[in-house]
Amino acid sequence: MASPRKLSSLLQAAALFLAMLLHGCNAQLSTRFYDSSCSNLTSVVTNVIRQAQNSDPRIHASLIRLHFHDCFVDGCDASLLLDTSGSIQTEKDAAPNQNSVRGFDVVDDIKTAVENFCPGIVSCADILALAAQISVSEAGGPSYTVPLGRRDGTTANPSGANNALPSPFEGLTSIQSKFSAVGLDDTDLVALSGAHTIGRAQCFTFSGRLYNFSGTGSPDPTLDTNYGDTLRQSCPQSGGGSTLNDLDPTTRDAFDNNYFTNLQSNRGLLQSDQELFSTSGASTVSIVNSFANSQSTFFQSFGNSMINMGNISPLTGSNGQIRSDCRRVNAS
Ligand code: HEM
Ligand SMILES: *[C@@H]1O[C@H](CO)[C@@H](O)[C@H](O)[C@H]1NC(C)=O
Ligand SMILES: *[C@@H]1O[C@H](CO)[C@@H](O)[C@H](O)[C@H]1NC(C)=O
Repeated sequence: MASPRKLSSLLQAAALFLAMLLHGCNAQLSTRFYDSSCSNLTSVVTNVIRQAQNSDPRIHASLIRLHFHDCFVDGCDASLLLDTSGSIQTEKDAAPNQNSVRGFDVVDDIKTAVENFCPGIVSCADILALAAQISVSEAGGPSYTVPLGRRDGTTANPSGANNALPSPFEGLTSIQSKFSAVGLDDTDLVALSGAHTIGRAQCFTFSGRLYNFSGTGSPDPTLDTNYGDTLRQSCPQSGGGSTLNDLDPTTRDAFDNNYFTNLQSNRGLLQSDQELFSTSGASTVSIVNSFANSQSTFFQSFGNSMINMGNISPLTGSNGQIRSDCRRVNAS
């Protein structure tokens, strides 16, 4: 007969196995999650995004970025959408977000439209994932099928936002660590950075490259001279820090692979963009080249990597809640 000690360790192993099994099941998102509970979801969200895009050509970019800034902080749980109230301290005021992330009013409009069709069914975290996927496709990018079934968190984490989100002034190795901390590899980093094929950036996010790069007294040597001239006109050394500039100076609102050909000609806007190509010996260089050479290779990888990013620690099953207002946790 087994000794009590052996029996108890056997039971522990069984419990652990069961917990892992349950966790694994819970973590499973599905592309058909709302097929029966909200079959109109995609068309409802698409309609609101098309409306918004009529008056705001930048909205696709802004919605894609919201999903990224949500997922990197405690997983894709719509924590980014919570306003300050009660015990909640909003992530919107964290350094990477303040006066920078935008599109929250459009997310509210999407939520209202979705609640009209399917009350209490669709999470704000899934709205962000779906709005990002639809925005990519509407801007001319790949059509990937986004897994759904996330639930909304009940906490926000501003210091987590400060720590987990990459900075445009950061070195490549440090950015790689932030991606690998959430399970994303070099291919994900390079592919997802390709989202900078659309959208805008304020002068202060790259002006350090224009005049006195790292205290050298000269511009960043990995910045094309003519492109630098153009950017200095837009961003004078004194002031103008919030002026908007195209992240992709060639085709600013079209989702294509020009971001990567730009990098090959030293026309990456942010230091963090250009580093992917200009860091000698970096593992990212050959990935940039392969995406520059083939838009379909980029599109395939981008879809895969958006799904990988969307899979970061989702709340599923009976965890979290379906918020009725994306800005607030439900009253208990
Ligand atoms: C690799 C590290 C990254 C850094 C350092 C970075 C940094 C930035 C910065 C500084 C801006 C401009 C913000 C402003 O001026 O207010 C920006 C804009 C943007 N980022 Fe990133 N980003 C990174 C990765 C990503 C990823 C992974 C995505 C999505 C998959 C993304 C999507 C966007 C988009 C679409 C915009 C334009 C937003 C708009 O026009 O509203 N970025 N990013
Ligand atoms: C929603 O679905 C119903 C039935 O499937 C359809 O008649 C209706 O037009 C759809 N509405 C939208 C906004 O897509
Ligand atoms: C560039 O920055 C460094 C360090 O901040 C400073 O010592 C130097 O005087 C600056 N050079 C110019 C030309 O502004």
